[in-house]
Amino acid sequence: MKLSRFLILTSTIIMLAFSSNIMAQKYVGVKKCAMCHKSKKIGAQYKIWKKTKHAKAYETLKTEKADKISMKKDGKKAVDNPNCLKCHVTAYGVDKSLLGKKFKMENGVQCETCHGPGSKYKKKKIMKNHAKAVANGLVEYKTKADIEKKCKTCHNEKSPSYKGFDFEKRWKEIAHYIPGKKK
Ligand code: HEC
Ligand code: HEC
Ligand code: HEC
Ligand code: HEC
Repeated sequence: MKLSRFLILTSTIIMLAFSSNIMAQKYVGVKKCAMCHKSKKIGAQYKIWKKTKHAKAYETLKTEKADKISMKKDGKKAVDNPNCLKCHVTAYGVDKSLLGKKFKMENGVQCETCHGPGSKYKKKKIMKNHAKAVANGLVEYKTKADIEKKCKTCHNEKSPSYKGFDFEKRWKEIAHYIPGKKK
């Protein structure tokens, strides 16, 4: 009896510690990732991303076209509409305590949308070690199908402008590999 109570107590403590560890991972924002992911040597992921529409996804919501769609659907401006923001920016709707000081939703669909909140894995020592990075919150994609599934959380018929999604083609448009790392 006493032993089982002890076990329940300790396992609860361990679970709490574990979940608060996960909870503490914050969205740091694309500028932080850019510090190390700009150079040609590493694959210039930041520069590649910057040229994609993901970087402009918030800006798009400021256009007349966006407001027209949004007003008609929900009677509010697109930048004030959760039904638009949820796909057009990173970390929409998460608790404010999980947003780093430099995080800006104006930067649109950022690295951490696909890679997970980076406050814990962004240290160089951790980043260089795949298993450690994953243990610290880096999202792992084991197969192409996993990647496609992620894309389709936004690229789907709930998007007012949806016209289908050719995964293989679209992935090539945004791919940003590390040179020499065979995939
Ligand atoms: C302090 C520098 C630094 C920062 C900041 C940083 N990275 Fe990295 N990142 C690296 C290095 C170095 C590698 C390993 C490159 C290699 O394998 O050659 C890496 C690897 C990665 C990988 C591949 C890891 C794997 O195991 O598959 C991803 C994905 C990644 N970074 C995303 C990010 C994101 C997203 C951010 C911002 C939240 C970020 N990085 C911030 C330095 C950094
Ligand atoms: C389910 C996710 C999702 C939601 C919700 C969403 N969007 Fe989008 N939006 C996308 C995606 C993905 C694209 C890129 C086009 C594509 O390939 O589907 C896009 C593209 C756009 C474009 C540019 C394409 C064009 O036709 O010019 C506009 C404008 C736009 N969205 C406005 C809005 C507005 C306004 C809302 C809210 C009423 C909204 N979106 C809600 C995912 C979404
Ligand atoms: C729309 C989703 C998405 C966004 C946004 C995104 N990535 Fe990625 N990234 C991926 C996926 C998916 C992979 C895994 C590719 C694979 O394993 O085949 C990847 C791979 C990587 C890799 C490792 C490549 C390799 O060769 O192992 C790095 C480094 C990386 N991303 C950094 C970044 C950085 C930095 C940003 C922001 C500037 C960013 N990514 C934005 C989806 C994204
Ligand atoms: C969080 C939601 C989200 C996720 C996840 C996402 N996207 Fe997007 N994507 C968007 C939005 C929103 C746009 C439109 C931005 C705009 O036009 O302003 C877009 C636009 C694009 C475009 C440009 C489309 C065009 O019509 O020019 C490509 C290519 C693209 N995404 C590929 C991908 C791929 C590949 C993945 C998965 C690895 C992915 N996206 C994951 C939201 C997302």
